[in-house]
Amino acid sequence: MHPTTVPSLILLLTLISTRWFLTGAALQSQHSHGSGGCIAAERAALLSFKKGIKSDLTNRLASWHGRDCCRWRGVRCSNKTGQVLKHDLRNQNPDISSVDGCDDESALFGELGPSLLSLEQLEHMDLSRNCLTEDQGTIPLFLGSMKNLRYLNLSGIPFSGEVPPQLGNLSKLQYLDLGSQYVGNHDLGSQLYSTDITWIKGLPLRMSPVNLSQISDWPHILNSISSLRVIDLSSCLLGSANQSLQHLNLTKLDKLDLSGNSFDHEIASCWFWKVTSLKYLNLRYHRLFGQFHDALENMTSLQVLDLSFNFNQKRLVMEGNFNNLFSLKILDLTDNEMNRAITVLMDRLLPQRAWDILEELHLGFNNLTGTLPNLIGRFTSLTVLDLSNNNLAGIIPPELSNCTCLRTLDLSNNHLSGLVPTGIGAFANLTSLDLSSNNFSGVISEEHFAGLMNLKKLDLSSNSMKLVVGTDWLPLFSLKIAVLGSCQMGPLFPAWLQWQREITKLDISSTRLMDKIPDWFWPTFSHAIYVDISDNQLSGSLPAHLGDMACVELNINLDLSSNLLEGEIPPCFEINISQSIQFLLLSNNSFSGKFPAFLQKCTTLQFLDLAWNNLFGRLPEWIAEMTGLQFLRLSHNAFSGSIPTEITNLQYLQYLDLSSNSLSGFIPRHLSNLTAMTLKGPRLLLSGTAMTLPDGEGNQVAGVTIADQFGQILSIITKGQQLRYGSTLAYFVSIDLSGNSLTGEIPSDITSLDGLINLNLSSNNLRGKIPMKIGTMQSLESLDLSSNDLFGEIPSSLTDLIYLSYLNLSYNHFSGRIPSGRQLDTLNVDNPTLMYIGNAGLCGPPLTRNCSGNNSFINGYHKSSRHELELMSFNLGLILGFVVGLWMVFCSLLFLKTWRTRYYRLVDNLYDGLYVFVVVNWASLTRNASAE
Ligand SMILES: *[C@@H]1O[C@H](CO)[C@@H](O)[C@H](O)[C@H]1NC(C)=O
Ligand SMILES: *[C@@H]1O[C@H](CO)[C@@H](O)[C@H](O)[C@H]1NC(C)=O
Ligand SMILES: *[C@@H]1O[C@H](CO)[C@@H](O)[C@H](O)[C@H]1NC(C)=O
Ligand SMILES: *[C@@H]1O[C@H](CO)[C@@H](O)[C@H](O)[C@H]1NC(C)=O
Ligand SMILES: *[C@@H]1O[C@H](CO)[C@@H](O)[C@H](O)[C@H]1NC(C)=O
Ligand SMILES: *[C@@H]1O[C@H](CO)[C@@H](O)[C@H](O)[C@H]1NC(C)=O
Repeated sequence: MHPTTVPSLILLLTLISTRWFLTGAALQSQHSHGSGGCIAAERAALLSFKKGIKSDLTNRLASWHGRDCCRWRGVRCSNKTGQVLKHDLRNQNPDISSVDGCDDESALFGELGPSLLSLEQLEHMDLSRNCLTEDQGTIPLFLGSMKNLRYLNLSGIPFSGEVPPQLGNLSKLQYLDLGSQYVGNHDLGSQLYSTDITWIKGLPLRMSPVNLSQISDWPHILNSISSLRVIDLSSCLLGSANQSLQHLNLTKLDKLDLSGNSFDHEIASCWFWKVTSLKYLNLRYHRLFGQFHDALENMTSLQVLDLSFNFNQKRLVMEGNFNNLFSLKILDLTDNEMNRAITVLMDRLLPQRAWDILEELHLGFNNLTGTLPNLIGRFTSLTVLDLSNNNLAGIIPPELSNCTCLRTLDLSNNHLSGLVPTGIGAFANLTSLDLSSNNFSGVISEEHFAGLMNLKKLDLSSNSMKLVVGTDWLPLFSLKIAVLGSCQMGPLFPAWLQWQREITKLDISSTRLMDKIPDWFWPTFSHAIYVDISDNQLSGSLPAHLGDMACVELNINLDLSSNLLEGEIPPCFEINISQSIQFLLLSNNSFSGKFPAFLQKCTTLQFLDLAWNNLFGRLPEWIAEMTGLQFLRLSHNAFSGSIPTEITNLQYLQYLDLSSNSLSGFIPRHLSNLTAMTLKGPRLLLSGTAMTLPDGEGNQVAGVTIADQFGQILSIITKGQQLRYGSTLAYFVSIDLSGNSLTGEIPSDITSLDGLINLNLSSNNLRGKIPMKIGTMQSLESLDLSSNDLFGEIPSSLTDLIYLSYLNLSYNHFSGRIPSGRQLDTLNVDNPTLMYIGNAGLCGPPLTRNCSGNNSFINGYHKSSRHELELMSFNLGLILGFVVGLWMVFCSLLFLKTWRTRYYRLVDNLYDGLYVFVVVNWASLTRNASAE
């Protein structure tokens, strides 16, 4: 018996009863309302769908009322019968490259119920990038009964579970997309799976990323469907492609996308090399290696060959018979560690016949050496040339000027030098020019830009060039990204920027500007999401209403001696923006005034840093209304009054720093409500989300992780030092109330915060005893209670804090024997008495004063691995802290959305590198410690 029979029967029964019910309901509604512009039963079905939607922030269903459902947004009906043919509610949010509808606020959130079955004539249904998984998270079986569907797009809805084979019953289906937005996306972690794909028949199939790991003979199954033209099984967890097919049936196959399946075998053994009809072959993100199959010589139709990101020690040998690939238009070999001379590669790999038809050549991240060959001038159809991140040296050959079709020229991160040829000024279609991080010198003049009317991205940063243009120069282009950091542009503020109103990212840092910020500057860049004008000698003031700025990040380095910006914090965000702001960093300025009132509207705020300013007055009770707050840093101001008790309502708060203010009163009770401080491991917000910025073509370019970004900005004082945390910030759980005038006892329920890594209550007027159960705060690595009026014995449970690496109990009134054993004995080995100094009543080691009594002595040191990750990341932070120099960020705002990066590999590599670095260093640290 076929395994799907039983579910099918159940499905059938379910369907019958559901339909009976729906039809009954529909008849009733028809009866009571009469017929409108559309069929009443179908209207009822759509309304039932609407009822299942719990959130619709973009108001896509706003028009879904009234009789004539054919006029509702996304609904199209047959002119003859009035029946609904099309149901299109795809999430069209253009900003977000989010693949997962549930990560995207503008998605519809809710469930996908079987009411839609009443739309009997429905041909086209697109619900992509919405979050319609509320019900059970699996693809609803009823879809398999919508017999007239020709187009079904469910991509970006994060369904899980088995793909219902019933979809195979949709005999008219011409398009089925269960995939993600991006091909080869490892990050998604397929939740869908299928154990049987025989049902797919001749669909132009896009299944990615469905887990098909159970189906080892998938090529045989596909081969039995000779009509297949398109196969897209990217990121489907297929195990290998080295099956051998006796007889090749797939003679019509045009497009084969198997990217992101991590095949780890010789490339020659793949089954598809004899499919000579192939025009498109995508083998991105694998571990394929070795020589190419001889049959490559017969793949004369191949136009697109993507072999990028094949990571293997045993490399791909780029020497197969490429000579007949004379239809090749796109060749992507990004990141294959080719380590060879570019001349050899271009000469051998690309048949001469293909030179003038090749349109895209992607050779980035390959450690290519040598100079850019003159023969580049023969590639006259080239629209994309990406040679970034190699070891190329020498000059740009003047022959490059022949490549007038270029749209994207990326030579960044090489060792290229000399002058930039003025010939590039004739590339009328050039949209993206990236020459950053080379050794180019000389002058870039108006001539270089003479014909560049389509330029959107210009990156000349990190060279030794001088940008010299007339003060009245009017560029033809309107840039979206202008990164000119370290190009000499000054001393006058570049007037031509005034006409670049579309800029989203502007970096003119270190460009030797010595001028006043012109009045037009802020209005012109009000749409920019990243502005960096740091490291210049600029004067002027911030706009009165930063709220008019859309900036994600604004970076103005302050020369410490002459603060550019003072006065009250401008009302940064007016209503529309305040709804979405998640990060606000305004530390290290001379802002005065009260806690900014406009923040009350910022209910989405997650990260607030106002430290090191001159703010004063009470902390408002409505601080608790910023319910999303995870990081709150208000240290080094002059806030007074008591800490609002409401602060304990902030259930996501993991980092609270109110140190060095003039706060008085008690520490709030009910600290145990801060449940985020009872969790361990990285938090949702900062855990590895990648931030990218759109480049000139609307693509996403690789960025840094948010955690990195903010971890590096934020310095944290703990363990008696100032450290910078990198991505470890996501792990950091801390309360710092030091340097205030707090009175009363340490609330005993603080001990329930067992995720807390840092607790600093020093330099207050706290009285009473250390809570007995302090030993339950198992994550504590740093505890500072110094300079208070605490008394009583030091609880022996302190020895349970096996991760403690910093302790300071000095200058209190503690008495009795100092507990010892385990981690306590390893602390502050140079001078352990410092931890306890200034407590007249304490006795026992490490102090010299003997105790008369006889307390128990706990010994033994054991170390579990439970917290190794935190420890490791803590030290990662520590190391980063020394590596990253001091830089100051003035105002940095970020609207977090789920951006994803194309270059996972890079990020992964970075993490690997850091990880190794840290492990090594951690090992040596502990070795040193134990040696002492
Ligand atoms: C139905 O009517 C609309 C508007 O009246 C028209 O644009 C559309 O082409 C018609 N469709 C068909 C299939 O006749
Ligand atoms: C080739 O395709 C035909 C028709 O689709 C099918 O009947 C036959 O079994 C296939 N052969 C193989 C070897 O799969
Ligand atoms: C290429 O095609 C020719 C003609 O069909 C055939 O004789 C030859 O064996 C093929 N080459 C390979 C390596 O399969
Ligand atoms: C880059 O290639 C050169 C040889 O061309 C080699 O010596 C070097 O080790 C390579 N670098 C890396 C990081 O692989
Ligand atoms: C420039 O392109 C033309 C064809 O468009 C070609 O004949 C010529 O050789 C090329 N010049 C160089 C220097 O490669
Ligand atoms: C620029 O692009 C347009 C439109 O695609 C094309 O027609 C034109 O030939 C291109 N110009 C050059 C110089 O390649």
